[in-house]
Amino acid sequence: MLALFSLALAAVATAQTLSPSVQHAKRTALPAGWSRVRRHAPDAVLPLRFGLTQPNVDMKSLEDLLNDVSHPDSPNYGDHWSPARVAEHFAPTKGNHPHRRVLDLRQRCRPRSQAESLLNTEYHVYEHDSGKEHVACDAYHLPAHVVPHVEIVTPTIDFNAILKRSGSTSTHITVGQPGAGTVQPVLAGKIENIFHELDNCDKQITPACLRALYNFVYPFPLATKQNSYGIVEYTPQAYVPADLDLFAKNFSSGLVGARPILAAIDGGVVQNTSESFSFNGESNLDLEYAMTLVTPHQPVTLYQVGDLQMGASFNNLLDALDGSFCTSGGGDDPVNDGIYPDPDPAGYQKQDCGTIKPANVISTSYGYNEADLSPAYTARQCAEYAKLGLMGVTIVYSSGDNGVAGNQALCLNPDGSQSFSGNVFNPSFPSTCPFVTGVGATQVNPNATIHDPESACQQVIHSGGGFSNYFAIPGYQQGVVADYIKDNLTPSPYPPGTYNTSGTSRAYPDISANGANYVVAVDGQFGLVYGTSASAPVVGSMLTMINDARLALGKKPIGFINPTIYSPAFRGAFNDITTGTNPGCGTKGFSAAKGYDPVTGLGTPNFAKLLALWILQK
Ligand SMILES: *[C@@H]1O[C@H](CO)[C@@H](O)[C@H](O)[C@H]1NC(C)=O
Ligand SMILES: *[C@@H]1O[C@H](CO)[C@@H](O)[C@H](O)[C@H]1NC(C)=O
Ligand SMILES: *[C@@H]1O[C@H](CO)[C@@H](O)[C@H](O)[C@H]1NC(C)=O
Ligand SMILES: *[C@@H]1O[C@H](CO)[C@@H](O)[C@H](O)[C@H]1NC(C)=O
Repeated sequence: MLALFSLALAAVATAQTLSPSVQHAKRTALPAGWSRVRRHAPDAVLPLRFGLTQPNVDMKSLEDLLNDVSHPDSPNYGDHWSPARVAEHFAPTKGNHPHRRVLDLRQRCRPRSQAESLLNTEYHVYEHDSGKEHVACDAYHLPAHVVPHVEIVTPTIDFNAILKRSGSTSTHITVGQPGAGTVQPVLAGKIENIFHELDNCDKQITPACLRALYNFVYPFPLATKQNSYGIVEYTPQAYVPADLDLFAKNFSSGLVGARPILAAIDGGVVQNTSESFSFNGESNLDLEYAMTLVTPHQPVTLYQVGDLQMGASFNNLLDALDGSFCTSGGGDDPVNDGIYPDPDPAGYQKQDCGTIKPANVISTSYGYNEADLSPAYTARQCAEYAKLGLMGVTIVYSSGDNGVAGNQALCLNPDGSQSFSGNVFNPSFPSTCPFVTGVGATQVNPNATIHDPESACQQVIHSGGGFSNYFAIPGYQQGVVADYIKDNLTPSPYPPGTYNTSGTSRAYPDISANGANYVVAVDGQFGLVYGTSASAPVVGSMLTMINDARLALGKKPIGFINPTIYSPAFRGAFNDITTGTNPGCGTKGFSAAKGYDPVTGLGTPNFAKLLALWILQK
């Protein structure tokens, strides 16, 4: 549930008489496709929830804590926190809070009219082009003295993911939410003949091409029992067992008959009633490459999240990975996340809180546009990624496939709304969260060999990248981003307001890997697939094998990698990508360049170099 903590409305009602009401949150524009249709009925019941502010979750505190265990120069590198220590450190508002008793009360349903007077707002019904309806307000207020203790109230200004809820199996676009089916890989063509030779990697990417490109040779992992690699999929997206075998027959005979370890979350099921590229493309791509690249010796865990009725989003995964997130760290929002137990009698009748021990590396190829979500919602979730980092977990996200535009190539308008004709860049979340590692896409250039430098991906998809509108720049990337801006964006080539030019906002992605021409078995045949969807699990596989080497030496997993990979020593272990752009929103986007760039990040991994450095690291 949303806030681990819920404020009783009664508390607010009482408080309102004690202090002036101040605006707590405001939306500047409606999300794309929505319009206001009427006032909400006065007697309609609103399930109001209040998310309380957690201590110690400001970005600076989180960054300091993470640097202590993740910065290569820290004497405490690798001294990750136990889940209990994380829960204790971030426990919301402890004992001495004057309103503790009332704050502890759970969510209360209130008639609209009462909710409106409590929050000094007006609720309206909005309708999406698809016919879906949603109840929201434009802004709301809280008593001044309550404001410091409340982070988020729902339902209020947040929108969007209601589209991903029920009925998601019936429509193409909502398959495998979150992110409205958007960081989905793209299928462009069937394959008649698979090329197994390395001189065709410009036309077809296979596991052998990736191994050659990234110096990624690690055939015999040793610490497979202690090690783990999690791939995340959202129901109804599902892998097809026969496709894994078809792929294995061609590329990894040791994996014929092998399946990922299923870790079902909130009723997650590998459904086999709907079969098409939309339903199977992402899962098949992720698992075929992840399982092959980490070798048949290392099991891969599949986090299959959400039942068939409700679906799920990132917060549902986080609930299962960290029980304190369900109960006191943020939890779920009825608009954006699946709410379990599922009210649908056919759905999952429990909520999975802290049921899964997180894998050492977790790769996800789904994403939202920042603008789909409120700053408070993204901040809460981003803090949770930081907590997983403290626990030693590496979180990898694909950075999006539309360059500087968002999912479905939507861009922002100056008022913050999204449209296809917008000219303002539309960053991708969670890649813009400073506590995840965002992965962009590269390509082997046409007619080039694996020995030639790659470019930013320029075919079918473009690497998601740019500057966050929500998150400030973390310390680890300040120097390299300042250099990029000085050398490439001074003066800015675009009109003011096109993107955050300050140099003080989070730049993404962090790194990249090939995202073009993947040979993928889907629904009984091989096709060519494109996307940062491919890049993320490939990077995750390399990091998993680095963990293997460290675990075999009695060292800790690499955990949150960003402070390490941006350090001068590790930066040299990436192949700098200096050509290609990430167009979108009527522009050519940004250009890859020497050093860091918001197209391909630091570049693609050189596994052998990274392994050598990480083995020596404490
Ligand atoms: C490889 O893929 C093809 C389909 O392209 C399939 O016919 C064949 O059985 C697979 N296995 C091997 C070993 O070639
Ligand atoms: C489809 O999935 C169900 C539920 O997981 C399983 O019992 C059944 O064997 C599967 N059918 C096929 C043809 O794979
Ligand atoms: C690649 O080589 C083919 C055959 O030599 C040629 O027709 C094509 O124009 C080349 N493409 C590029 C992008 O250089
Ligand atoms: C740019 O980002 C920084 C850091 O997040 C923020 O303080 C600033 O207000 C942003 N500038 C604009 C014009 O949005």
